Amino acid sequence: MKNGENKGVFQSISPEEIPGNTIRTIGRDWMLVTAGTKEKFNTMTASWGGIGHLWNKPVAFIFIRPQRYTFGFLEEQETFTLSFFGGQYREALTVCGTLSGRDVNKVERAGLTPHYTENGNVAFEEATLVLECKKLYADFFHKESFIDADIVRLDYPEEDFHKVYIAEIVNVWEKK
Ligand SMILES: Cc1cc2nc3c(=O)[nH]c(=O)nc-3n(C[C@H](O)[C@H](O)[C@H](O)COP(=O)(O)O)c2cc1C
Repeated sequence: MKNGENKGVFQSISPEEIPGNTIRTIGRDWMLVTAGTKEKFNTMTASWGGIGHLWNKPVAFIFIRPQRYTFGFLEEQETFTLSFFGGQYREALTVCGTLSGRDVNKVERAGLTPHYTENGNVAFEEATLVLECKKLYADFFHKESFIDADIVRLDYPEEDFHKVYIAEIVNVWEKK
């Protein structure tokens, strides 16, 4: 399939029905984290994150460095989306993971079509799976809390620690 050939209809499913192995889906296939409003939003590629169960809720967690343009949108909004794509969108995700929305219209450059949820969040028509998430908890990693100092040395030479966002998964849509 080429870009634009996966514009079927989204069907609501429960978080328990989320398909696939998320270590593979997030770590290998990547996702787009999108925050903002119909009028002004930004999206970026992420390959670090997870899906699980916490505080008796289905949750997603993402890790965002403060220098990302998307970071400001995540801070401002209570909600965000995670969009997952078929392999034919690898190039689109590479665009969204290497260029900044500060400099270019990444959505246009990546050939993606915004999809607006009823709650006013933004995802993408080309996605095969969309999670709508409501923030529950957020904090930066703290240097003194790392048990394995190699992680600080290797991943944070500039000490630009990620902020962790843990969010309730409030809606899930899948395209069969
Ligand atoms: C495969 C891939 C995975 C990435 N994962 C993350 C991530 O989990 N967290 C993060 O802060 N940045 C991650 N990035 C980097 C951002 O996507 C990248 O800096 C992007 O250009 C930020 O865009 P923005 O400035 O428009 O927000 C990743 C990049 C790629 C290519």
